[in-house]
Amino acid sequence: MTPAKQSSLAANPALALYVHWPFCLSKCPYCDFNSHVAKTIDHGRWADALQQDLRHHAIWAGKEGQPLSSVFFGGGTPSLMAPETMAAIIDTLRAIFPSSPDIEITMEANPTSVEADRLEAFRDAGANRLSMGIQSLNDAALAYLGREHSATEARAALAKAQAIFPRVSADFIYARSHQRVEDWEDELEAILDLGLEHLSLYQLTLEPGTAFYSRYQRGLLDVPDADEGRRFYDLTQEKTDAGGCPAYEISNHAKPGQESRHNLIYWQSHDWLGIGPGAYGRFWRGGQRIESRNRRDPGAWLDDVMTHGHAIDQITEEQPEDFAQEALMMGLRLHQGVDLDRIIRIAGPIDAWGDARALDQMVDGGLLHRDGMTIKLTPDGRPLLNTILARLLAD
Ligand SMILES: C[S@@+](CC[C@H](N)C(=O)[O-])C[C@H]1O[C@@H](n2cnc3c(N)ncnc32)[C@H](O)[C@@H]1O
Ligand code: SF4
Repeated sequence: MTPAKQSSLAANPALALYVHWPFCLSKCPYCDFNSHVAKTIDHGRWADALQQDLRHHAIWAGKEGQPLSSVFFGGGTPSLMAPETMAAIIDTLRAIFPSSPDIEITMEANPTSVEADRLEAFRDAGANRLSMGIQSLNDAALAYLGREHSATEARAALAKAQAIFPRVSADFIYARSHQRVEDWEDELEAILDLGLEHLSLYQLTLEPGTAFYSRYQRGLLDVPDADEGRRFYDLTQEKTDAGGCPAYEISNHAKPGQESRHNLIYWQSHDWLGIGPGAYGRFWRGGQRIESRNRRDPGAWLDDVMTHGHAIDQITEEQPEDFAQEALMMGLRLHQGVDLDRIIRIAGPIDAWGDARALDQMVDGGLLHRDGMTIKLTPDGRPLLNTILARLLAD
């Protein structure tokens, strides 16, 4: 099979940039992100390296001068960056991608008071959307999640963020140990009362390699089973629909027009560049879809960028079936569904990369909805995304 080729109809995808800041004040016991606690950080060196990584990726991917739709500073905890570092990166990207006037620039932040005190400086550096990791409005749950902030501190940081940034989102984790559906119902009502235009509501996942995972394996941590998880999920959909902040993706909710432009680029399989340790990007270059990955270890990444000008350690030329898989895995998460036409134009007829019969069966069985060339998960299908993908992509 030849590598995935872009047809003219799939041309001009939107372009985004992800910037990874890998440091945190402490490591949360549930988290398997590329996040580390460092004794000292040479902020000047990190600023230089991130700008160098950006210049390298833009030239190497052939994206210089294109309009950039969005930038996302993720982590780790980007609110621990020096605001000057963020300002320097934003200045550099504005020089590389000059025709991006209404660009969305999101940063993740933790709600400790130290970080809240610096929010204005980040807004002045150019960030115009903030995503705050609150996780819970309950102090006992925050302690269980190993967080460095109280619920009162989180509310204060959020109020400050809402006064400073035009768009604010918050992350919460539910279906936690000892949490009952009724407890979550009360907490969710309080969350909806915060008046945010965007919410990321995640069910707790036990990720291999985390402290929670080993506690679970030793029988020291209990989480809701699949049926209980479904009750949590259904309640979440009901309450957020009624509260005017419905889901547009499995875990993401927004008031109309407030969807995260950045995440939509991932879920719609457009183009993005990833800079910083462990960041990955996917983009079309000269008719070929590429996936690139940077070295994950922060120290090794920094040394490589400063010595060799980049720290890309893996480059994959995607095959057509890889693109079909990516487009379905990401796109079926969205309530608006996936455009089969685009996949077929790039990857060929369904039976070249998947199972057309299984697709029809799942439509008949009420797991998928098909409207012309758009397919989407039905409410019954939404909790079963992985099973559906396995059937759809089997050949
Ligand atoms: C990169 S992290 C967080 C950014 C920021 N450092 C913070 O902690 O607020 C993005 C989000 O992923 C979610 N998350 C991380 N690990 C999770 C897990 N095991 N289960 C569910 N959600 C998780 C949390 O809601 C978190 O805010
Ligand atoms: S959840 Fe956030 S603060 Fe906690 S370790 Fe992960 S990235 Fe760091």
